[in-house]
Amino acid sequence: MSSPVEQIKERLNIVDIVSSYLKLEKAGSNLRARCPFHNEKSPSFFVSPTRNSYHCFGCNRGGDIFTFVEEIEGVSFYEALKSLADKAGVQLTEVGSKENLEHKKSYELLELATKFFEFSLTKNTAVLEYLKKRGLEEKTIKNFRIGFAQGGWQTLFNFLKSRGFTDMQIEKNGLSIKGERGYYDRFRSRIMFPITDTQGRVVGYSGRIFDLPGSEASAKDKNFVAAKYVNSPETELYNKSKILFGYDKAKRAMMQKNQAIVVEGQMDLIMAHQAGTENTVAVSGTALTPDHIGLIKRFTNSLLLSFDSDEAGLSAGERGVKLALSLDMDVKMVKIPESLDPADIILKDKSIWEKAIKDAQPIIDFYLDYLTEKGIKDRDLVLAVNKKVLPYVAAIGNSVDQAHFIKKIANKLDLGEDSIREEVGKILKKEQKEVGVTSPVGSKIKKIKDQIRDKIVGIWIWQKGESPPGLDLDLLEKKYKQISGRELEEEIKNIERGEKENLVFQAEMYYENHKALKGDADELIDNLEKELLEERLSTLLTRLRQTEKDKDEKEMEEVLKKCQEISKRINEIKNSRFLEK
Ligand code: CTP
Ligand code: MN
Repeated sequence: MSSPVEQIKERLNIVDIVSSYLKLEKAGSNLRARCPFHNEKSPSFFVSPTRNSYHCFGCNRGGDIFTFVEEIEGVSFYEALKSLADKAGVQLTEVGSKENLEHKKSYELLELATKFFEFSLTKNTAVLEYLKKRGLEEKTIKNFRIGFAQGGWQTLFNFLKSRGFTDMQIEKNGLSIKGERGYYDRFRSRIMFPITDTQGRVVGYSGRIFDLPGSEASAKDKNFVAAKYVNSPETELYNKSKILFGYDKAKRAMMQKNQAIVVEGQMDLIMAHQAGTENTVAVSGTALTPDHIGLIKRFTNSLLLSFDSDEAGLSAGERGVKLALSLDMDVKMVKIPESLDPADIILKDKSIWEKAIKDAQPIIDFYLDYLTEKGIKDRDLVLAVNKKVLPYVAAIGNSVDQAHFIKKIANKLDLGEDSIREEVGKILKKEQKEVGVTSPVGSKIKKIKDQIRDKIVGIWIWQKGESPPGLDLDLLEKKYKQISGRELEEEIKNIERGEKENLVFQAEMYYENHKALKGDADELIDNLEKELLEERLSTLLTRLRQTEKDKDEKEMEEVLKKCQEISKRINEIKNSRFLEK
């Protein structure tokens, strides 16, 4: 069956829709009017009944009945869809697609599981005692919906089955694992921290081992060391690199305090919130990703990191930190004494945490101190700074701020600023500051079509070196040729060597987890096609005006037809985006 969008299009006629707003006059096989979207004396707004579309050759707006209603009423696509569905008498039940219904079921299942864990915790005094000993107040436990997964292999599984959920649904949401003898619970004898999405809906869990000294779990088998944390796997609802633990509860405070604090663990986050620093989010053991930075940047440009000050802790933030710096964010490091983590220090003395936050150091200063405090000196220090610190300096988007640190480092190492600047320049050449986001400073502003081409080139060279490649490279090459009339190989020859490396580097960083790669490549091709078509359209429009002046009716008809074809294709591309999303 055709989609509601198609059904509506079949039933409604563009002429009827448009003429309820404008007075149309006949112009050959088309109709025309003065454009409602821009000010004009002679009409250049055309409506084509056969194509069921409109186009204004004056302001270049065009589309179908949906875009027309969107633009003229100033409403969203969805609202336009609803209003036209009404007119056409089409039921919109399809909008709640199968996928949406399944997601709804998943949210229900996870909500129920969360309640089950919460209830189990109230019955388990030993675990409650432990949480209290860690410093958690009762209302914090409630607020974060902390729970307990009981021992036993199918406790949760059986409960969810009894409530009508299927094996598949339980497994798909990461709560059970399929073994040789059937399904068993992923989380057993664990303290459960629900992970929520930006709207506060539970999408997964982090389960901490419950290890009271001398408890059963630690005594049972001395050779077996259970992981301290077991986490939900990636599911349709839970994407680790896109979710920050505690984000939904931190949003308001991040905005109000104009500052975000990032910690590593669940306990760190919960204790931080309890201590009044509610502008805290946690990465829960993964690296800080560009997506995380994007989530934070919605609310503030001031980023405080409270990571373990060991190599592992520091490098976990590297990629995200560089991106943040390149986006002109102020990135600072919170230094916690005695190599404790935020949860420990807050439990010990809340004021030490508060002071550490006040004393947070700009990340470059922090790294410089870190190296000196490790006792590195002289030439070793120069080399270490070059390797560990200058990449961050290079990433800084604000050139004044960058100059400040170059000067500082030059002084510290007793070297000329020029040599530091030169090294920073080299790093910049090698690394692309920009990670899928337009770079703010330094880079020449390129045309959109060239930016898109660059991205495609980056993906292509990078994936050529991978075996097997993550997408069909021959197909990509063919499509590129088709829409641009040029060979990808030829394009690459025209790009400077250093620049090429940047592009590959950028692609590799951005698509680290490969998942989005294929879809994005398709989208890039679509976008490129749209850009090129729009370019052609604008040339043709100049010609159209000329033919009008020359009163060359026949030529005019022909050019108009070409314009219509191109607009139609542009609209197809635009619409296909709607359907995918
Ligand atoms: N982590 C994980 N898997 C592990 C260990 C850790 O996912 N096997 C994640 C958890 O999100 C954890 C964070 O990394 O909160 C930090 O780990 P760690 O410092 O070892 O734990 P703490 O947060 O200190 O845990 P606790 O205070 O409860 O002992
Ligand atoms: Mn801890």
